[in-house]
Amino acid sequence: MLRDGLQNEDRVLPTARKIELVERLAASGLRRIEVSSFVSPRAMSQLADADAVFKGMARRPGGIHAALVPNLRGMERAIDGGADEANLVMSASQSHNRANLRMSREASLRAIRQAAALASTAGMRVAAILTWCRRLQDDADIHSISLCDTSGMAYPALVKEVVGSVRDVCRGNTLALHFHNTQGLGLANVFAELESGVVRYDGALAGIGGCLYAPGATGNICTADLVDALEVSGYPTGVDLDALINTARDLEKPLGPATPGQVMKAGRRLSGPIAAHHGPAG
Ligand code: COA
Ligand code: ZN
Repeated sequence: MLRDGLQNEDRVLPTARKIELVERLAASGLRRIEVSSFVSPRAMSQLADADAVFKGMARRPGGIHAALVPNLRGMERAIDGGADEANLVMSASQSHNRANLRMSREASLRAIRQAAALASTAGMRVAAILTWCRRLQDDADIHSISLCDTSGMAYPALVKEVVGSVRDVCRGNTLALHFHNTQGLGLANVFAELESGVVRYDGALAGIGGCLYAPGATGNICTADLVDALEVSGYPTGVDLDALINTARDLEKPLGPATPGQVMKAGRRLSGPIAAHHGPAG
């Protein structure tokens, strides 16, 4: 929390000195550092150079350089500065929220919603995921949460980290995972969480699809590829793979042969599962 420290000092440190502090904290082995905040420079002159600090500092692989963000404008700056994580803030106390952020709690909630939406399209890791999952569970009495990698930028290590934290927070909830195959890692992402007991995964027939708001994103994993991979790994799905492949091939006729599904083109393998039996997945 370098940010919290610096913002309460009367003396304003030069940008180069802040950069040096961040780099030395990271070198000492701290993995997650809240570097600065992208708030109004008038509200917090001590941290008015957040953009320059983020752009000037060296980054270590695996390090998480976070920033405090109060609104959409702040999130735009955080993304531009390459922040790895945005900590979206508001106060539970109405008077404190008004004094600190000059808005009502409801207005803050709206600002957080907009900022979080922007962050997820930009593929940023957001502490807000956890906050919202907790609220969906506690305030809205939701019992099943589907985590969606809409841009398809997730990778197995990230999936393990995010899903692991969500699982800790939302113990009463069934988790489902929804991966797009943009980077070809959809199936790898499924297998990253399979052992830990997530039993619901989305697929798309023939792998078609994309996302209107995530340019470049391709469709979900092809359902037949998913079923095939699960079955041969010893996770029975209860799905008739041959029937699924036929349906996917029929879809290809009107759509043209460019659908992404692979098992539907290669045909299913002839040998059965080799791995031990696990509980059902699907
Ligand atoms: N970064 C930079 N500038 C911002 C900004 C941001 N995140 N959010 C708003 N601004 C700018 C606006 O562009 C506008 O600029 P202009 O007057 O030149 O057009 C100006 O600030 C006022 O915008 P407005 O939306 O009316 O904000 P506000 O004056 O009501 O302030 C906050 C709202 C949230 C931006 C401000 O109260 C704030 O930054 N508070 C954070 C305080 C803090 O750091 N507290 C400690 C940590 S919790
Ligand atoms: Zn999707």
